[in-house]
Amino acid sequence: MEYTTLGSTGTTVSEICLGCMSFTEDGEGWTVDREESTEIIDRAVELGINFFDTANVYTQGESESILGDALAEYDRDWPVVATKVRGSMDEDNPNAEGLSRKAIEQELQNSLDRLGMDTIDLYQIHRWDYDVPIEETLRTLDDAVRRNQVRSIGASSMWAHQFAEALHTSELQTLERFQTMQNHYNLAYREEEREMLPLCDREDVGVIPWSPLAGGFLTRPHEEMTATIRGEDADWDHYVSGGGLEINERVEELADEKGVSMAQIALAWHLHKEVVTAPIVGVSSVEHLEDAAEAVDIDLSDSDVEYLEDPYEATAVAGHD
Ligand SMILES: NC(=O)c1ccc[n+]([C@@H]2O[C@H](COP(=O)([O-])OP(=O)(O)OC[C@H]3O[C@@H](n4cnc5c(N)ncnc54)[C@H](OP(=O)(O)O)[C@@H]3O)[C@@H](O)[C@H]2O)c1
Repeated sequence: MEYTTLGSTGTTVSEICLGCMSFTEDGEGWTVDREESTEIIDRAVELGINFFDTANVYTQGESESILGDALAEYDRDWPVVATKVRGSMDEDNPNAEGLSRKAIEQELQNSLDRLGMDTIDLYQIHRWDYDVPIEETLRTLDDAVRRNQVRSIGASSMWAHQFAEALHTSELQTLERFQTMQNHYNLAYREEEREMLPLCDREDVGVIPWSPLAGGFLTRPHEEMTATIRGEDADWDHYVSGGGLEINERVEELADEKGVSMAQIALAWHLHKEVVTAPIVGVSSVEHLEDAAEAVDIDLSDSDVEYLEDPYEATAVAGHD
């Protein structure tokens, strides 16, 4: 595995982050059950992956508890654990969602309990909360850092002007600042290149893209998109409308030429981007994870990158309101 630094935190993370959204107790639908999830996490550790991303809302806490139980077998010094807060954890309780002090403090404690940890390495706001002043959210997160419940804070998909406001507020009020941006970014969706990525670059914020394989769209020829349970249910329109079909064909062509998988080409593209810290890869098997780990050794030339990017067309923003 190759390692890099997470934003300006000084924390060292693997260049591949394991996304834990597919981990559930029963493995229903496209998800992976507890036993297989644990095998994936164990294999990740074996491969040198130390960076794990989950969220309180992933199957209402099941993902956090599976991750915490699996990592309990290892020294706590090894993993860098990231989780998130914002979505609803109880539809009958209006304070079990959002980014108010009350919601964050409750949900942070619940996440720590499920993970079975004293400290979360990276605590992220899952989206912007239009009902809560950003200063209240930042003060609450700052307090959590002072209490050693959280080491660093991060944010996920929002408008660049909102993220700039949050960074500015931290600076003005001398509060902990967001060290990472977890955003929707892949070869078939590059709208983040307009505003968000230049802002992150300028502010030395680590970029940890979600859906780096476009949820599977970049992992097999587009004619086979419905071949898996997830593929059958997914809506691929936002990738297709951005020139995705031709991009998919070019990923396949380059993968054949280099004798690697399409997923590896799609991930190698991320690893080629200086602004990207570590893509958060979603997997539905141990084999997918092994494939992802090997992508760190694939070299793409500048002309390969240009060839892959060329068919992209501007498309509607997807991933946040
Ligand atoms: N912050 C946010 O709002 C947000 C949103 C979404 C996700 N996330 C995070 O990002 C992570 C990844 O998201 P994602 O699952 O959408 O990402 P992804 O990595 O773009 O897609 C994962 C899917 O790609 C396919 N795949 C993966 N490796 C493969 C391989 N080697 N060969 C063939 N197919 C392969 C699988 O699809 P099949 O199952 O169809 O085979 C898998 O389910 C999540 O786990 C979560 O941690 C965050």
